[in-house]
Amino acid sequence: MAKTTRVGILTAGGDSPGLNAAIRGIGKAAIGNYGMELIGFRDGFRGLVEDNSIRLDLNRMSGILTVGGTMLGTTRDKPHRMLVDGQVRDMTEAAVATYHKHSLDALVCLGGGGTAKNALRLSRAGLNVILLPKTIDNDVAMTDATIGFATALEISTEAIDRLHSTAYSHHRIIVAELMGHRVGWLTLGAGLAGGADVILIPEIPYAVGSIVAAIGERAKRGLNFSIVAVAEGAKNSDEHRAYVDAEACEDAATTPEAKAAAEADLAALDAAHDEHTLQLARQLEALTGLESRVTILGYVTRGGTPSPVDRLLATRLGTAGADLIAQGVYGVMVAARGDGTFPVPLDQVAGKGNRVPVDHSWVQAARHVGTCLGD
Ligand code: F6P
Repeated sequence: MAKTTRVGILTAGGDSPGLNAAIRGIGKAAIGNYGMELIGFRDGFRGLVEDNSIRLDLNRMSGILTVGGTMLGTTRDKPHRMLVDGQVRDMTEAAVATYHKHSLDALVCLGGGGTAKNALRLSRAGLNVILLPKTIDNDVAMTDATIGFATALEISTEAIDRLHSTAYSHHRIIVAELMGHRVGWLTLGAGLAGGADVILIPEIPYAVGSIVAAIGERAKRGLNFSIVAVAEGAKNSDEHRAYVDAEACEDAATTPEAKAAAEADLAALDAAHDEHTLQLARQLEALTGLESRVTILGYVTRGGTPSPVDRLLATRLGTAGADLIAQGVYGVMVAARGDGTFPVPLDQVAGKGNRVPVDHSWVQAARHVGTCLGD
């Protein structure tokens, strides 16, 4: 009798709406359609390393389509550099051992850029890995969409809509900080859809003078309120240069020591950037004479039920993942392309990212409707 195909699954990195929908998509197709067995690992790669697992049957796939978060839990742990007993250790062998202990034929990892790198490492260690792209940041290479972005875009846009009415009533500037440490898709999309007057994203360094001038122009037209949508990672020109240098060092680092030093430099820049939105609001108040307030959307963006668009995407990618396992196609990410899904080799995804091109149609459209992008 042929052996039943056994599939492991985990969710890693920051959570995003639609993870449960994707688990359900792959689970229902794998178990119901192909007669496979599904084993979930809790809390990302840590669950794989520590063999913290749970058998997932069809009943467990019911009632989770609309539920936010991830039923499996998640962490940002990396198998090759994991904190164990107070020490950072390479736990790749333990991850591989768990895979074989469960006689797995495939491991499905749901995650973003960091997970893609970990998935590639495990694939090179001999595991049959499939990646499903998810992140509210939309910064995974080679796919049109990532699970969670559409919901986050809706939540962020609604927030900007709501901030508009209070900003105009009080004649204020409201600076709305949206998620996006390294990329500006969410802020650009929500800013454009919500009609923000100023949109600041990490890819386009800003000058405070340009923002003040744009707000001044509005005031001349009798519009004495403004919405500034700013990504967590938006930077002025000086900060931007420091980040570009630090990221170049990180890319060029060839030894673990050099890598750790570059990461420490980036972390120091992040720490210095922490209060950046509050500082920006204070500067704008001082330079425009308009009262300024700050709203930081934060984790609200990642919580709650996924939108229909994300449920569809998660179900398409999940079921396509099960199809690939049935065909024995591994070492790939299931990418969304137009109406279809395509397997993309993991080495074309890991470490590549997906930043907003400065000539992207959303950027051009924003400029055409008179939005200030801070440059
Ligand atoms: O999910 C991606 C992301 O939202 C980034 O935009 C954000 O900066 C980061 O995660 C923060 O998440 P955490 O605090 O969970 O690491």
